[in-house]
Amino acid sequence: MKTLIRNGHVVTAVDSYTADILVEGSTVVLIGKDLEKIAGALDKTINATGKLVIPGGIDPHTHMDLPFGGTSSSDDFETGTRAAAFGGTTTIIDFAVQYRGQSLNQALDVWFSKAQGKAAIDYGFHMILTDLPNHRLPEIKNLVQQGVSSFKLFMAYPGMFLVDDGTIFQAMTAAAESGGLICMHAENGVVIDVLVKRALAEGKTAPKYHALTRPTRAEAEGVHRAIAIAEMANSPVYIVHLSCYDALKEVQAARDLGLPAYAETCPQYLFLDYSYYEQEGFEAAKYVMTPPLRDKSNQEQLWKGLRGNDLQVISTDHCPFCFKEQKELGRNDFSKIPNGGPGVEHRMSLIYDGGVVQGRINLNRFVELTSTAAAKIFGLFPKKGTIAVGSDADIVIFDPSKEQTISAKTHHMRVDYSAYEGRRVRGTVETVLSRGNIVVEHGEFKGKRGDGQFLRRGTA
Ligand code: URP
Ligand code: ZN
Ligand code: ZN
Repeated sequence: MKTLIRNGHVVTAVDSYTADILVEGSTVVLIGKDLEKIAGALDKTINATGKLVIPGGIDPHTHMDLPFGGTSSSDDFETGTRAAAFGGTTTIIDFAVQYRGQSLNQALDVWFSKAQGKAAIDYGFHMILTDLPNHRLPEIKNLVQQGVSSFKLFMAYPGMFLVDDGTIFQAMTAAAESGGLICMHAENGVVIDVLVKRALAEGKTAPKYHALTRPTRAEAEGVHRAIAIAEMANSPVYIVHLSCYDALKEVQAARDLGLPAYAETCPQYLFLDYSYYEQEGFEAAKYVMTPPLRDKSNQEQLWKGLRGNDLQVISTDHCPFCFKEQKELGRNDFSKIPNGGPGVEHRMSLIYDGGVVQGRINLNRFVELTSTAAAKIFGLFPKKGTIAVGSDADIVIFDPSKEQTISAKTHHMRVDYSAYEGRRVRGTVETVLSRGNIVVEHGEFKGKRGDGQFLRRGTA
């Protein structure tokens, strides 16, 4: 298959120019002017005049088919990756989970069987570590060698995912020795657990108490501790789903000292806020996610962090649960509402609109935050995360002026609500190529279940 993308405005993390792009098979083979004259026979020509041509989005934080709170996230690898493609994301890094007593390879096999034959775009895995006796420490290096080069540890969810500081230190040491990276869910889960029990004992069962029992100080303390332990272990650390200024200040302080601390935030923390929990009835359950939505005053600080590179990545933490029957599990007890929300489909348009259109970031930074930085941090660059000769042809043709209204009526995620219902955004994905194959064209899915490949990631 030979495809010519003609006369688009190509934007990478560092460049911005008008050119043609020739794609042969799965890779970009030529970039230049008037390539039609020298391209030879073509299978397809895409006229990208007036459009942005950007690297496919990389979402390094998704949870497809994740068992949580007595149910499972409602998107599996088929529906979730298809929705991602509609939104211009061509790579996800999802979280496999090691449950107690399992080896890391046993855990990985379970997630391979969830994804293989289903994913429509390329995918990698991080491994969530929950059980790390000394004899399992060498398995970390083993996993890095198999292309699973990052791991998530939890300071929250006691009894489920939480690991103690000694385990965190050991895991960080082992990961650093093999070039791996620890991703940290940084919240003081032990204190939060007490606050949750107190609230329930006082009859405070409504969804808003999810937020009121998870103060920003609990997140900031987790971030501080994660960075301090990483420093002692001589290890880099990547803070996931950072939600508030209190936590950001900890990352800023560490980076000012030159420590290898990295962090991502997510659209929900940039566009939604605590007031969503004050809605009537049980509606607020739609926004029960961890960390919770914060006071609006945090949002401009997060944008500032994104501009100044104290935050390097925007992921989604896509972890959808239907309002009916799934969120409803916690109708009488907020602590039983499955944590998480949908987001994988609209990250690129939301960030383009809220970031570029609103003048908070420029186009290069938009590409960097949604694609390039994740590729670099998680060992995928330059195969992914840029448009260059030799890179995978994961390319999005993006209409910068076309507006859309986000709604559950039109989205492709398998979930019965949208966290952004009715929100009007400027910037719409028009055509998406995944390794040279067209997967989305003018609002229609042209990809194939199972075409997504597992990505053996390197080390950064
Ligand atoms: O609420 C969330 N974030 N659910 C997914 C699990 C996690 O902590 O990332
Ligand atoms: Zn988390
Ligand atoms: Zn998550």
